[in-house]
Amino acid sequence: MELLPFQLLAVLFPGGDSEDAFQGPTSFHLIQISSFANSTWARNQGSGWLDDLQIHGWDSDSGTAIFLKPWSKGNMSDEELAELVELFQVYFFLFTQEIQGYASEFQLEYPFEIQGIAGCELRSGGSIGSFLKGALGGLDFLSFENDTCVPAPEGGIRSRIFCALIMQYKIAIYIVKKLLLEMCPRYLLGVLDAGKAELQRQVKPEAWLSSGPSPGPGRLLLVCHVSGFYPKPVRVRWMRGEQEQPGTRHSDLLPNADWTWYLRATLDVAAGEAAGLSCRVTHSSLEGQDIILHWGQPISIGLIFLAIIVPSLILLLCLALWYMRRRSYRDIP
Ligand SMILES: *[C@@H]1O[C@H](CO)[C@@H](O)[C@H](O)[C@H]1NC(C)=O
Repeated sequence: MELLPFQLLAVLFPGGDSEDAFQGPTSFHLIQISSFANSTWARNQGSGWLDDLQIHGWDSDSGTAIFLKPWSKGNMSDEELAELVELFQVYFFLFTQEIQGYASEFQLEYPFEIQGIAGCELRSGGSIGSFLKGALGGLDFLSFENDTCVPAPEGGIRSRIFCALIMQYKIAIYIVKKLLLEMCPRYLLGVLDAGKAELQRQVKPEAWLSSGPSPGPGRLLLVCHVSGFYPKPVRVRWMRGEQEQPGTRHSDLLPNADWTWYLRATLDVAAGEAAGLSCRVTHSSLEGQDIILHWGQPISIGLIFLAIIVPSLILLLCLALWYMRRRSYRDIP
């Protein structure tokens, strides 16, 4: 059975407009990185992503697509895929040729790098928007609004001339428009559905504490590590009781190799004030049962009980026995 797009949206967003009903990526995009070393040497790298999860690679030597997940093809037929792969082969070839041909006219000095990103995303209300942007040497160069090339202010006059030039490639513009406005939305819905089990899974974080390099004399750097969770949204706070500590700093969210994430939250405190602090981790997989780790309290209440109460009881018992024995000796007539 083929689902209509709105039925598919209902599958992907079971809670309607409730925000936390859908956890996982909502966009698909292709990234192109083209490095031009000199007038005869260039390399194109391509990849396909759902938000920040890579699902496609591109082998530029053989000109073939690499599907990194069993469901990376989404709902595309083998013929469609073969056509697309051929299209990208031609595109990379012509792109390299055209850029090298225009390099001196545009005063592009070797070596330089061109980056491109193009794709589509689910927007609130269920619509799907498309985007295409290009950068030169790490600076915005141009973007496409509807089907018009818009030069980026950072690109200066070069970017304006380039946009005017690009608009003359009528067939290329037509193909790009078809890919972005028709094919991408259809593929996005298909691949989100095909990969649903993996994309919408919940993986619980592990958390542990350590101390970092001392920030100064008499100060401690408390580090709370949180790793292995999916999806990405997570909240990690240093607390004193119910009071969030405002000085908490967060590292970037770093990817683990297995599509889970790592985050570190640090707090710089006076050594005497570390006791009583705790790290609190909130994540959708924990279903409201936050992980709470206490600083400097490796001994649990149970161990304290064993360590203090039990020896005291034994001592009391010995004293009592000793006292009773003494009394019983004394009572012997
Ligand atoms: C062009 O760059 C490539 C890669 O850096 C290098 O191997 C090659 O020798 C260069 N060719 C010329 C003509 O400079």
